[in-house]
Amino acid sequence: MNAASSLSSQATRADNRKAVFVQCDGILIEDRGITRAAQRLVSLLDAAEALRRLQQHFLLFLVTCEPAREKGPSGLSKAAGAARAIAEHLQQQRVRIKRIFHCPRRLNQQGEHEPTSFFYVAGQEFGLDLKRSFLISGQPEILALAEFAGVSGICVRTLSPNEHHRSSPTSALVVPGLREAADWISGCLFMWNLEETDAHAIDRAAHILQQGGIGAFPTETVYGLGASIRHETAIARIFEIKARPKFDPLIVHVADEEQLEEIVSHVPEKAHKLITHFWPGPLTLVLPKLRSVPDLVTAGLDTVAVRMPRHPLALALIRATHSPIAAPSANRFGRTSPTTAEHVRRAIGSQIDFLLDGGPCPIGVESSIVSLIGDQPILLRPGGIPMEEIECLTGPLGKPRTPAHQIRAPGMLPHHYAPHTPLRLVTNSAITTFEGGMRVGYIAFRAPPPEINFAAVEVLSPSGNLREAAANLFGALHKLDDQKLDLILAELVPEQGLGRAINDRLNRAAKSSAH
Ligand code: TXA
Ligand code: MG
Repeated sequence: MNAASSLSSQATRADNRKAVFVQCDGILIEDRGITRAAQRLVSLLDAAEALRRLQQHFLLFLVTCEPAREKGPSGLSKAAGAARAIAEHLQQQRVRIKRIFHCPRRLNQQGEHEPTSFFYVAGQEFGLDLKRSFLISGQPEILALAEFAGVSGICVRTLSPNEHHRSSPTSALVVPGLREAADWISGCLFMWNLEETDAHAIDRAAHILQQGGIGAFPTETVYGLGASIRHETAIARIFEIKARPKFDPLIVHVADEEQLEEIVSHVPEKAHKLITHFWPGPLTLVLPKLRSVPDLVTAGLDTVAVRMPRHPLALALIRATHSPIAAPSANRFGRTSPTTAEHVRRAIGSQIDFLLDGGPCPIGVESSIVSLIGDQPILLRPGGIPMEEIECLTGPLGKPRTPAHQIRAPGMLPHHYAPHTPLRLVTNSAITTFEGGMRVGYIAFRAPPPEINFAAVEVLSPSGNLREAAANLFGALHKLDDQKLDLILAELVPEQGLGRAINDRLNRAAKSSAH
C-alpha cells in the first residue's frame, strides 16, 4: 500500500479547515515569473496525483503572483488567465480548486514592488486554521508572506538551475517537487494525528532516547531503529536486536547542520553542495568523523555516515532529543526493510521501547550513500536519490572497487533484504520454469504475464513510474512473504533513476534467499 491509499483510509478529523496553497508560477507552470499558455504545464499528471491526495484533507487554492516583469493590470490578467486554465485542467483530473488567489504587488517605502498577503483574506473567508495550512511555492517573497501569516512554507526546487531556494525563509522546507511536498504534508497529518491521540508521544520518545533507551521511528525511506549517539549501551542493544555484525557501521541522523558539527570534523566543498541541494532527503554522506563519535557507531572507522531525514516526525524526534540519532533500518539484519509501523511491530516490536507510527514511508528504499573521503566521490549504495541527479552536482561517481570499500558498506554485501520465501528473478521468457503444483507469487513492475496463474501477484506501478515502484517494493515483498508461498518470482525494472535502487535490492534479496 502506498502513502496515498493508506492516508485516505486513515481516520483523520476531516474538518476541511486546513488549506494547501499552490503557487502556479514556477510550480504548475514551467516558465517562472511570466505565465503563459496552459500547455506549458510541467508533469501535470504527477501534480494532479499529489493534489488529489491532499484534497482529501485540505482545501486547495491556487495562487498567482503579479509577474515582476509585467506589473499592473495586464500582467495580472495574464497570470489570472493562466491560473484559470490550470484549474480547468486540474478539474479534468478530478482535482477541485476552491479558489484562485491573486497576489498583487504594492510599492513599499523604498519604492520596490512587494507582493501583498492574501493569506488573511483566505483565512477569514474560509475559516482556515493557518497554522495547519501550507504554501507550496518556489518564490522567496511569497514564502516570506506565508511565514509571516503562520502558514508553513514548502519551497519547491525547480529543475532549472535557479537558486531561488537559497534565499528562502529559513523555516521553509526545500523539496524537489510537488510529490515530495505532498509526502511531507502527509507526514505532518500523521504527526498531528499522533499528537491528538497522545499529546506527549514525541517528547516521551525523546526522553526515552535521552535516558539510553531505543525506539523505532519513520523516515521518508524506511523505518529506523534509533539510539542517541551519546549512549553506547543503547547502540549495543540495537546491534543485538538486529543480530547485526559489529563491523557494520550505522548511519547518524541529524536535524540541522549544527548537529552535523557535533560528529564531523570537516565538510569538503562537494559535500556542502550536496547538503545544500539534497538535505533534508534520502542522501547519506560518508565524512571524516570527530573522535567523540563512539566507535561502536562507526565500527571503528575514522569516518561517519550521516544524513538529515525528510520526515516531520523524524526531525521532530531528533530535535526533541537534542542529540543526533544513530539508526539502522528497523529490521533484523539481512531481512526485508520495514516501510510501515506494522512491519516494525511484527519484526522487533516486543524488543524496543517505543514505536512512532508516521504512516507508510513515501520513498520506500533506503538512502543513497556517497563517500566523500577520497578525491572522487563514490556511490556506496544506490538509493532514494537517483545517481544521475547526484552526478549533476559531483561529476561522475566512482564505484567501490577495493574489498576494503565493501567491508565499509555491508549494505553492499550480496546477501541482504531477504524474504523468508525463496525469491528468484525472472525475465519473461524464463517464467515457465517452475514446477506445476507450486504456489508461486509474482512481483511485476507494470503487469504480470497474463497467461500464468500465480497464487498472488503484486504490481509495483501499473503506470510504470519508478518512484511509485520503489515506494511499493518492500511492502510487496513483506506481503508475499506472509502468504507461505513456495516461491516468489520478481521482475527487474529499467536500470535508471530509482530503478537502480530497486534492482539492487531485488538482486541482493534473490542472492540471499538462495543461501
Ligand atoms: O534510508 C536509510 O539510510 C535508512 C534510514 C533508517 O535512515 N537507514 C539505513 O541504515 O538503511 P542501515 O544500517 O540499514 O544501512 C546503513 C549502511 C550500511 O550499509 C553501512 O555499512 C553503511 O550505511 N555505512 C554506515 N557507516 C558507514 C561508513 N562510515 N562508511 C561506509 N559505509 C557506512
Ligand atoms: Mg538495512
